[in-house]
Parts: sequence; structure tokens; C-alpha cells
Amino acid sequence: MHVIMANSKFRTLHRSLMLQTTITIIALSFCVFSVFQRNVQQKVQPGYVIKPQPLINDVPRNSDELIAKLADVTRKAENGMNKTEIFSSKKRLLWNKEHSCNSRHEIYALYSTRKSTHDIKTNPKWNSVLKEYSKLHRTCVQRMGNVTDFFLKRKHIDGCKFVVAGVSMGSGLGNKVLTIVSALVYAVLTQRVLLVPLTTTAPGVFCEPFEGSSWMVDPENNWTDCVRRRDLWDPLATFYDKVDTRDSSEALIKPTYAVSTVHTLDPQPESRFFCDTEQAQYTQVDWIHFRNNFYFVPKIFAVPSFRPLLEDIFPNRKILTHLLRTVMLPSDAVWGRVKQVHDAHFRHSNLLVGIQERYFMGKSGFDQLHTTMEENVVECLKSEGLLPTTNPKLQSQVFSSPRDFDKPSVSALKPLNVTTIFITSLYQSLFERLSQDYVRTALNSGDAVGLVQLTHAGTQNFGDEVDRQALTEIFCLSLTDHLVLTPLSTFGNVAQGYGGLVPWFIDLRPETPTPCLLAESAEVCYQLPSTRLFTCPHDADVNERFMTDVVPHLMDCNEAEKPFQRETKSNIGIQLATD
Ligand SMILES: *[C@@H]1O[C@H](CO)[C@@H](O)[C@H](O)[C@H]1NC(C)=O
Ligand SMILES: *[C@@H]1O[C@H](CO)[C@@H](O)[C@H](O)[C@H]1NC(C)=O
Ligand SMILES: *[C@@H]1O[C@H](CO)[C@@H](O)[C@H](O)[C@H]1NC(C)=O
Ligand SMILES: *[C@@H]1O[C@H](CO)[C@@H](O)[C@H](O)[C@H]1NC(C)=O
Repeated sequence: MHVIMANSKFRTLHRSLMLQTTITIIALSFCVFSVFQRNVQQKVQPGYVIKPQPLINDVPRNSDELIAKLADVTRKAENGMNKTEIFSSKKRLLWNKEHSCNSRHEIYALYSTRKSTHDIKTNPKWNSVLKEYSKLHRTCVQRMGNVTDFFLKRKHIDGCKFVVAGVSMGSGLGNKVLTIVSALVYAVLTQRVLLVPLTTTAPGVFCEPFEGSSWMVDPENNWTDCVRRRDLWDPLATFYDKVDTRDSSEALIKPTYAVSTVHTLDPQPESRFFCDTEQAQYTQVDWIHFRNNFYFVPKIFAVPSFRPLLEDIFPNRKILTHLLRTVMLPSDAVWGRVKQVHDAHFRHSNLLVGIQERYFMGKSGFDQLHTTMEENVVECLKSEGLLPTTNPKLQSQVFSSPRDFDKPSVSALKPLNVTTIFITSLYQSLFERLSQDYVRTALNSGDAVGLVQLTHAGTQNFGDEVDRQALTEIFCLSLTDHLVLTPLSTFGNVAQGYGGLVPWFIDLRPETPTPCLLAESAEVCYQLPSTRLFTCPHDADVNERFMTDVVPHLMDCNEAEKPFQRETKSNIGIQLATD
């Protein structure tokens, strides 16, 4: 449940009153979710049923079993069709020509160019799973033909089941990406075809990830919205009703065509989604609809039947990083821009620092918070040793002694130690400040600082070109060695994920003197609603226990990532601990 900040009292006033006001406003804007969530929970009484009827959810336990299962399901879906005809070598060539995606082959290599970061290796288990999954995807998509028609006529193919990754209105690129990858994990684990409505994809921003197939559906945007189209998607309450009123403990519900996993506005699947009994029942559903905004892989990981498989495929739990680098591949248009920035500004740097400065509430948020924010950023860089020291003595010497210009200096020929600071912000103020202190000044000999900021749009815009540039900047952030992020931003989350980096979060909590705090994981935290309770009325062993108490490697979020919430434990989101 969410906290309503208007009631909270800040004891000390380390920072300005302005800051507090802003924080309260931001927190209030999140309360819509909390109030809503509470109503929903009262309505369905999620934690209690008269007669618990637990079911075992049968899931492959390791990647080999999953691959065998995927192959089995694909065979069923082929239904005797000639494999070669589904995807002949000629079709393969043509598809790859029409879907050029340079990042697919270059992405891990580009990350390995970072001089101060040990990058993660590719994940062969995940890659094999994904390869087998692509076959299922293209078999089902090809056999369906016109997907809209298939869905509207309630058609069925043995072996083919589906997940639709929708997003709520007004989702930025970061929200979309986190929603898609979360849905993908679920789709692969349960051998379902992942489909993405046009409203979720950002055309021309990402490559099609599955060879020989397309994940895009519903160009007219008139059947994948589970909230608007109650006639096509069973409401969740109806589904729970069926699950709760079965005749016997072993019974599965009758096959159901299409079910939504949210009540209306939930930015994650409703809590009971993360339960074994409910998951066993979802195997009876052809189409499952997600309509979310945030990263919910930590909660999929918490489901007891899914955990062994995820632990086997992702032993270091850098799940998001592998998902992003294999499935959310930048299109050639974006990739070209990224490589240009890399070649011009990053390639020759010894140390790369990425800073994401994000203000909520537009320009007024900037006006109120930017002095504090910039002060924190600079203090953070200094205290963490990410900036060379300035040398005022050197500065005065240079200009006081004209004779020095005649002598060729030895130190001028030494290779420099170059730190490049890459900034993403809607404003130019931080750039100016760092430029003043570190570029238009003399540093200790042997050090040089470069500053790069690609855009400063002033206001947040939407659209395909905006998304392409946004992904370019997210990607450039992720290519740095050290990240300093503003909390509560999915833009920063995605950069951290691609890069596999444990970031520093700018510490905006009003009562703390620390300018920033190092996160504890490369996996992202930011989730709404932030509940970490199992709500599994049929599964007594976990019901109403904290996921973080039951599941190893699952932990509460770093406090600095939730600057605007009171610190009651149940109000902090959860994240996976990475090695
Ligand atoms: C499948 O189709 C290809 C091309 O049409 C053909 O060469 C091959 O013999 C077929 N295989 C089977 C098992 O029917
Ligand atoms: C697919 O089917 C829908 C619904 O029957 C129809 O409106 C649409 O025109 C079809 N699309 C194509 C490309 O045939
Ligand atoms: C969806 O929109 C398309 C184009 O506007 C239309 O042809 C089709 O009939 C619509 N389908 C439904 C079910 O409303
Ligand atoms: C360059 O500076 C960084 C940051 O201070 C430091 O970690 C690194 O060791 C230096 N490299 C060289 C070659 O001096």
C-alpha cells in the first residue's frame, strides 16, 4: 500500500522548504494508484477464500527441460506442417535482409569496450532458450494469419497460447520497455507467444526480436485494450470467481479464451497473479493480457514454481540486462546515433560517467529543485572520486608567466587521462555548472574532462522521433562506467539495466546529508504498487507472508530510491540481488 505524504512530517530541515513542497506534490500524484489499489483489494478480498484449493503449477525446472518443452509445443503447433516450408533458408535470408539489425551482433562487443568496467558475458542458456522460443513464435504467428481476425473470431490452435503486452496511457519509453521485458519473461517461461500492440511498441526504435516473425499486432488499436474492450477480455474478478468456486481441489477451471491480469489501472499484474494455484489456472487461458507500467520480474521470480527455472537460466540474476540486450535491440537508426556518440566522445576516454538528471512537475519542478539536485550531483562525483581535482594554483601560473609559451612542455605530450561526463537532462544548467568548474578551468596536469549532452528539450515530448532519441540517450548512459541517476525514473532504470551497472542514486531525501547512495543491485527496483506480500489465498504456505522473507536473493529497495515515502517496510518495493 502506498503512503500519503501529505500526512507525513519531516523532522529536520536540511534542505529548503521548496524541496519538501515539490516532494509532496510528486508523492500526491502517485496516490492515485494507492487509493485505487485499496478499493480494489477491498472488493475482491484477495487474501481470503472460504475453501482453499491449492494446485501444483507444473513448470520446467531448468533450461534443458524448458527447451524440450518449447520444442514439444512447437511440434504441436506445426500440426504436421512441413518445417522447411514454414521457414525455408530462402525465407530466412529474405527476412534478415528486410529486418537488418546491426545491434544484434554488436551490442555485447560495444559494451566490452568500456575501459573501467568488467562487462557481463553473453548468456548461452538464455540464448538457446530464446532461439527455441523464436521457432514457437513464428510457427504460431504464421499459422494464425490475420491476428485480429483470429482473435475476434475466437479461433484456437493447439500449442499456441498468447500474451499481450499492453501499457497504460501516457507511458514513456522506459515504462514500455520494462513492461515488454517483464511480459516476455512470463511468456517464455509459460511457452506463450508474446504480442505487442502498436501502442506499446515504438515504431522504428527497436528491432523485431524473433527471427522470421513479428510481435507487433493491432495497428488499428481496437481490440488489445482489455479495459476498453470488456466484451473481448474477461475481467479479473470473473476469473478469480471461477478459480475460487471450483468443485474440487484438483480441478482446473474450464478453458477460457481471454483474460486480463489487471482490474483497471494497476501498473503491475494484480497480486494474485504471482501465485502457484492461479498460475496453474492460467494454463487454461488462451490469451492473457498485461496492461502495465513497471518491471515485475522480481515478483515472477518470487512464484515458487517459476523460481528454479529462472535461477538456472540466470544464475547471477542480471535478468534485466540479458533481456534488454537480446530482445530490446536498438534499430539501425538508433544504433547509428549511438555508435557516432561512442566514436566521437567515448572511445578515447579512460573513464566514463553518466548522469541522468530528471525533474518531475516540469519547469516548476526544475526551478524548485535544480540547485539542490546539482549540488548533490557535484558532491556525489567528488566524494566518489569520479572527477579529477581542480588546481587553482596551476590556473594562475599559466597566465602569469608568458615565457612558458616559448618552451615546449614535456607534460603536454604525455597521454591525458580523460574523463568524459555524459549528461541527459531536459535542461542545460548542470552542463553549464560542470563546464564552469571542470572545462573552463585548469585541472591537475594529466587530467582532462569532457562534457557531452546531446539534447536539452526543455519539455518532455512524445512521438517516434522523440523515442528514437530517448533510446539513443538511454543507451549512451548505459555505455558509461559509472551512473548517477535520479530516483523514480524508468528512463534511468533502463540505462542501468542495459549497462548491467549498479548506479548511484541522487539522494533527495530531505533528512539526509548524503549527496548520493550506491544501489545494491544492477536489477531495478522502482515499482508501483510496492507491495511485497504474497496474496495467495489458495497457497497457505506463502499466503500473506513477505516475498522478501520467503525468497532468497529478493530484497527491499534501497531507501534512496524511494525518497518520497515514509520508511515503513511494506512500502518499499523489492528487487533481485545481483552477483
Ligand atoms: C518439405 O518441403 C520441402 C520444400 O517444399 C521439400 O523439399 C521436403 O521434401 C519436404 N519435407 C517433407 C518431410 O515433406
Ligand atoms: C484482418 O482482419 C480484420 C478483421 O477481420 C480486418 O478488418 C483487416 O482488414 C484484416 N487485415 C488484413 C491485412 O487483411
Ligand atoms: C477495428 O478497426 C478497423 C479499422 O478502423 C475496422 O475495420 C474493424 O472493423 C475494427 N474492428 C472492430 C472489432 O471494431
Ligand atoms: C584516470 O583517472 C581515473 C579516475 O581518477 C583513475 O581511476 C584511473 O586509474 C586513471 N588512469 C590513468 C591511466 O591514470
